[in-house]
Amino acid sequence: MLVRPYRPHQDFRALLDAQCDLYQINFPRFVCTSSFLADQAQRLRVAGRRPLENGIFILDDNGTIAGFVWVAVRMDLQGAYGSVDQVYLWPPYRRQGLGELLMDAAHQFIVQHGLTTARLYVTADNQDAVRLYQRSGYQITRYEMERPMPPAPGR
Ligand SMILES: CC(C)(COP(=O)(O)OP(=O)(O)OC[C@H]1O[C@@H](n2cnc3c(N)ncnc32)[C@H](O)[C@@H]1OP(=O)(O)O)[C@@H](O)C(=O)NCCC(=O)NCCS
Repeated sequence: MLVRPYRPHQDFRALLDAQCDLYQINFPRFVCTSSFLADQAQRLRVAGRRPLENGIFILDDNGTIAGFVWVAVRMDLQGAYGSVDQVYLWPPYRRQGLGELLMDAAHQFIVQHGLTTARLYVTADNQDAVRLYQRSGYQITRYEMERPMPPAPGR
């Protein structure tokens, strides 16, 4: 098992295939459409052409892709930071401590880019991911809150 850089020609299809599952796990009302997949394919193509701003690392199990992490250099009102956008293990590889290898690769990329903050978003219900991130040193800095609303009268 090793972590290696993304090779677009070899890995593109597998990463695209993981997108529906990744979003369905994290957004319960999400519907995976062909236009969503086309957008993700485009994002992935652009990221593959911009390795200075995008670190994509593959967890490679003897030639089989076990997982990947995608981290991007971003800027907001507080300055530049490393954004851990996607962390994904294929189901047989989950719950074995392998997520940590992906997080380490993301953090190395962030440090090598001279950035002093790593940031990510996670759905509160996704407890496997929340625990991985807490073990990896992440703390809650903002809450995104929502409440269900009653239907409009007459609907
Ligand atoms: C989120 C995700 C990457 C986390 O991966 P994971 O395999 O659960 O996390 P880890 O690799 O850190 O595994 C740790 C768990 O495996 C257990 N484990 C079993 N054997 C282990 C070993 N040899 N070493 C370390 N941990 C081990 C640990 O006890 C731990 O369980 P706990 O969280 O209940 O304490 C993975 O669940 C996943 O790909 N999910 C789908 C995609 C997703 O939701 N991504 C996040 C988007 S924000």
